[in-house]
Amino acid sequence: MVHASQSPVVRRARCGASLTRRGTLYGCLVVAGGGTAGLARADESDPALSIPPQPGDQFAFLAGEKRGQVVKADNLPLGGPQVQVYPIDPKSGLVRDASRLNLVILIRLDPSSLSEDTRLRAAEGVVAYSAVCTHQGCPVNMWTSEKKAFVCSCHGSVYDPRNGAQVLAGPAPRPLPSLGVKLQGNVPVVAAAFSGHVGPTAQ
Ligand code: FES
Repeated sequence: MVHASQSPVVRRARCGASLTRRGTLYGCLVVAGGGTAGLARADESDPALSIPPQPGDQFAFLAGEKRGQVVKADNLPLGGPQVQVYPIDPKSGLVRDASRLNLVILIRLDPSSLSEDTRLRAAEGVVAYSAVCTHQGCPVNMWTSEKKAFVCSCHGSVYDPRNGAQVLAGPAPRPLPSLGVKLQGNVPVVAAAFSGHVGPTAQ
């Protein structure tokens, strides 16, 4: 059941053409907002809803027409932008959205465009990263078509999806951790844990 108060703020709006260090937006696409929103849950206290992505987990759309549905590879537009998702246990159907640290971005890219390390954790060009900015933890919910990169709208960090989400601009101190994925049929599933600490590093 979806609770109205937890509904994601779905925003899909175009803005200018890129993004500067100071956060001036131009040319980017907000792919989805409200990264802490819930989707569907049986019991708020069920720890299965907040544990990190588990091997074999599928992914459920956070927002949009397919909200709550399992992501298929061909749902992802080739070349971006990214889609915000939460892991979902395929056996129970529970979406692990009780922790905002479980918010993930999926993108489908030309495999030949990926760095070797990125390709090793991807599946036929489908790449997964934590959606939690390593600066101050905002959801990385924007896309610049000019740089073909993820953008955090809070302070303008830009991450390269083809190269391990390395930081291209902005105050983020380190890349977004990647999540290993593989395909089961046409469905991306978790193959390996996050490559590093999710979210801002404690000071
Ligand atoms: S929280 Fe993302 S750039 Fe500051």
